[in-house]
Amino acid sequence: MIDRYGVMGYPVSHSRSPVIHRLFALQTNQQMQYELLQVTPEKLETAVRQFQRTGGKGLNITVPHKSEVVKLVDKMSERATTAGAVNTLALTESEIYGDNTDGIGLVRDIVVNHGFNVEGSNILILGAGGATRGIVGPLLEMQPGSLRIANRTVGKAQTLTEHFGNAGPVSACPFNAVPVTEPYDLIINATSASLHGDSPPYPAAAISNGSFCYDLSYGLKPTPFSVWAKEHGAARSVMGWGMLVEQAAASFKLWRGVRPDTAPVLKQISVSA
Ligand code: ATR
Repeated sequence: MIDRYGVMGYPVSHSRSPVIHRLFALQTNQQMQYELLQVTPEKLETAVRQFQRTGGKGLNITVPHKSEVVKLVDKMSERATTAGAVNTLALTESEIYGDNTDGIGLVRDIVVNHGFNVEGSNILILGAGGATRGIVGPLLEMQPGSLRIANRTVGKAQTLTEHFGNAGPVSACPFNAVPVTEPYDLIINATSASLHGDSPPYPAAAISNGSFCYDLSYGLKPTPFSVWAKEHGAARSVMGWGMLVEQAAASFKLWRGVRPDTAPVLKQISVSA
């Protein structure tokens, strides 16, 4: 029987994961199939267990299930534990293993694909939800000089800061009062504003002509954040297509033991900002 994988989310019809994993499988000669699985929050547990029972080997877990699925996991990687969220499940008959490849996907995209040097840099993250929680750990491992988390609800940014030790380079501030003592080298939009059709007042004073602006969101058209970044003189402004492909490659490696070459796949599916 051919090995089965899939992505579970709600809604999930827009997901590019099936295309990405099929391209990876072709490239690396892996016999596998990858399905799109639309699953409501109430049905998540039943759907995961049924997929496991019927011989499914692995799942990607996407919005809105990444935190909820933690409850179903028997064993979890350290980075998924730190993130408090799981985006990849590896299944055997008797065990569900949970990992989170979002953060390393982002880091690999900015470091390897975009040549950005995180060490010693000043980073500003906008937003303090699940997406931010997933990327802070891997970014801190690269030893930035500072990492500031700005959020509309400042208490959530503070809670996150405490979760990451409330010391060293991490600090919190309100979204509309980002201190600008030094220019930010990397500004990451991790808010879900554009998903709701919102375009909040991003902190214009934080951008300099050396800033690399990265939107975790991606789309066929430039996102409001990437448009804003360009208009305000950012050195570079990109959407999260690279992170999408890199997190998928890390999941694929976990499942199949082979790391696909991401560059041709990224070229095939992405749209530049
Ligand atoms: P995700 O898992 O995508 O991070 P989330 O946990 O719901 O989703 O978090 C969404 C983030 O986007 C939060 O930081 C949220 O700010 P609040 O904590 O103040 O709600 C932020 N966000 C969403 N819409 C926003 C908007 N219009 N302006 C500013 N921030 C917004």
